[in-house]
Amino acid sequence: MEKIIVRGGRKLQGEVDISVAKNAVLPIIVATILNPTEIILKKVPMLEDVTVLINLLRELNCEVKFSPITGDLKINTSNLREIEANNELIRKMRASFLVMGPMLARFGRCKISMPGGCNIGSRPVDLHLKGFKTLGIDSEIGYGYVEAKVKNLHGNRIYLDFPSVGATENIMMTSVLASGITIIENAAEEPEIWDLARFLNSMGAKIEGAGYGRITIHGVSELKQPEPFTPIFDRIEAGTFMVAAGITNSKIAINGVNQEHLMPTIEKLKECGVYCNMDGEKMIVDGTGEKRPVDIKTMPYPGFPTDMQAQMMALLSITKGASVITETVFENRFMHVGELGRMGANIKIDGRVAIVEGVNNLTGCEVKATDLRAGAAMILAGLVANGQTEIGEIYHIDRGYTNIEDKFRKLGAEIYRTYR
Ligand code: EPZ
Repeated sequence: MEKIIVRGGRKLQGEVDISVAKNAVLPIIVATILNPTEIILKKVPMLEDVTVLINLLRELNCEVKFSPITGDLKINTSNLREIEANNELIRKMRASFLVMGPMLARFGRCKISMPGGCNIGSRPVDLHLKGFKTLGIDSEIGYGYVEAKVKNLHGNRIYLDFPSVGATENIMMTSVLASGITIIENAAEEPEIWDLARFLNSMGAKIEGAGYGRITIHGVSELKQPEPFTPIFDRIEAGTFMVAAGITNSKIAINGVNQEHLMPTIEKLKECGVYCNMDGEKMIVDGTGEKRPVDIKTMPYPGFPTDMQAQMMALLSITKGASVITETVFENRFMHVGELGRMGANIKIDGRVAIVEGVNNLTGCEVKATDLRAGAAMILAGLVANGQTEIGEIYHIDRGYTNIEDKFRKLGAEIYRTYR
């Protein structure tokens, strides 16, 4: 089984280049289903989740060419087939449930397996289906499948009880080809929503307000071939390296980021004693100073990102004093607490609240990645732990980080992957 081995105690230095965002590129790849023409995406990161979607599109008779070296991904969905209900790729990766909307817009019907839950929560899709219903889509859940069909896909006003990222994306993509106007109230505001709208508009969609709480989509009858498109950078990967500078008391430079999208993480790290400032195109992260305990409450954007919660917990586990972390977005996103505890962290959980009492040091041992971001947190803890940390189940990490150990090694960390 592959493992990532980290030997603690090294300071970091130098620069790291941030890849294009997993959570931007996945919905954008799905959105190509809406437009039967050749589309080129640039700098697409080599991620397990990207591979799953590429395989899904190929299974559906699309032409897909990917060059992992250049990151150029060429997709042509002109000969797209309807998805087979028993397609297991949906279950393999939840984000592929996003194909439902575009498939309905293209074929008027779609039957796919329910995505099911994962380690961090039950991950329901009720908001997706509620939004579809207001667009004229009838759906039924049964025997592990969702079956939906639509005769007249029409615009409407939709209020989301929760600003769900996936539901906002699914509804926005579907509305692009609906007749009339769709307004999504209480929409998710994550930068990846804004980027998906930017991509859709580059194909001739008419979307306004994406990235804010109300999105207006004027339906169009067809889309045009877009210019080659480069999705935005990965603000969670960037945040992970920002925390790495803090936990190792180092100063590093991070390339390819947009400070605005990182504001929630920058502000919280500043409170903790890690300072991130732009110097031209580079973000200089100075984690050399005294760290302070902080309280964190994860919230939909522009609140503190749930995808940064585990990484911050690793930093706070060796920050003198008591920090309180409240996870409001997912109901079971503290699986990494037990793994950090194996390394000597002192963390107590009470429902959705974790109280982190900083300890003087962590000690390396065998741990596992319990989800994508928890895996990143274990690497961060390993960077500072005494001795060696062996991280198992790293397939979680490979879903969302490209060559993470190479990037850390280039910064001076003692980290490598074993394949035994
Ligand atoms: C996206 O997941 C991201 N994934 C997640 O990143 C991220 O943590 C999450 O947004 C929140 O920012 C991708 O973009 C591929 P949600 P998504 O719908 O769309 C509830 C990572 O580590 N909900 O905003 O699934 C749901 O149960 C991953 O990169 C419903 O109740 O997130 C959860 O509690 C992890 N009904 C909350 O909303 C629904 O129909 C947030 O879910 C949909 C969601």
